[in-house]
Amino acid sequence: MENNKLSDEAYLFEGLTEMHFTSKDLQVIRSLIETQNLYAAAIREIRTKLENLNDEFKYTKDRNPIHEIKSRVKSPRSIMKKLHKRGLEMSVESARKNLTDIAGVRVICPYIHDIYLIANLLSSQSDIELIRKSDYIENPKPNGYRSLHLIVTIPVFLSERTEMVSVEVQIRTIAMDFWASLEHELAYKFLNNKPEDVSEELKECADVIANTDTRMQQLFNRIHHDALEE
Ligand code: GTP
Ligand code: MG
Repeated sequence: MENNKLSDEAYLFEGLTEMHFTSKDLQVIRSLIETQNLYAAAIREIRTKLENLNDEFKYTKDRNPIHEIKSRVKSPRSIMKKLHKRGLEMSVESARKNLTDIAGVRVICPYIHDIYLIANLLSSQSDIELIRKSDYIENPKPNGYRSLHLIVTIPVFLSERTEMVSVEVQIRTIAMDFWASLEHELAYKFLNNKPEDVSEELKECADVIANTDTRMQQLFNRIHHDALEE
């Protein structure tokens, strides 16, 4: 088999100077790095749009509809795990074609209304295409999970071409995020084999939290309404 000395590609490997790679290995590594860069770029584009909206609202309405933004590019390990689980071909091309959540952005809002405000403002921007919307607030998952999920594509401008890149945007309140974070941690502990009573308890907590979110929204509406009347 053909072996390539590392010299020309050293910048790709940050110190692995003793290793030899076949040209096929190099191709795979290059394409992996290119893919990670592309999704990281798409995340930056989305984050900038969200930050711009948040700044504008701070200026015009004296409040932030976004409390926090988190983001991540799915690790190669998780990408391969998901492809394997779905019985799909395990390659970079297959991942780009089949997975819509390689780039993930999570937007945490103070109030339920802010979620729909941000979702509408983001998805109506002219360079964004809304591919799918899953409203797990209107229709919570049976375990109590609530969030608004958008799959969007956004153009990333490279030196020689423009790529449309998909990003999963999860929008939820602080309270929904609190529940989802702890539920995720617990689910991991039980390896998805949660005892029935644990699942029921979690579901009840989700419902209590949802009720609190609604009450906080009503409080917000009342206070802002009163302020307008004064
Ligand atoms: P995935 O294969 O998980 O991506 O499912 P999907 O493509 O059908 O998307 P779905 O909208 O169900 O979920 C996508 C993402 O939402 C997950 O990767 C999680 O980050 C989050 N999510 C969905 N359901 C739950 C849940 O029950 N608990 C928690 N903590 N997070 C969830
Ligand atoms: Mg997912």
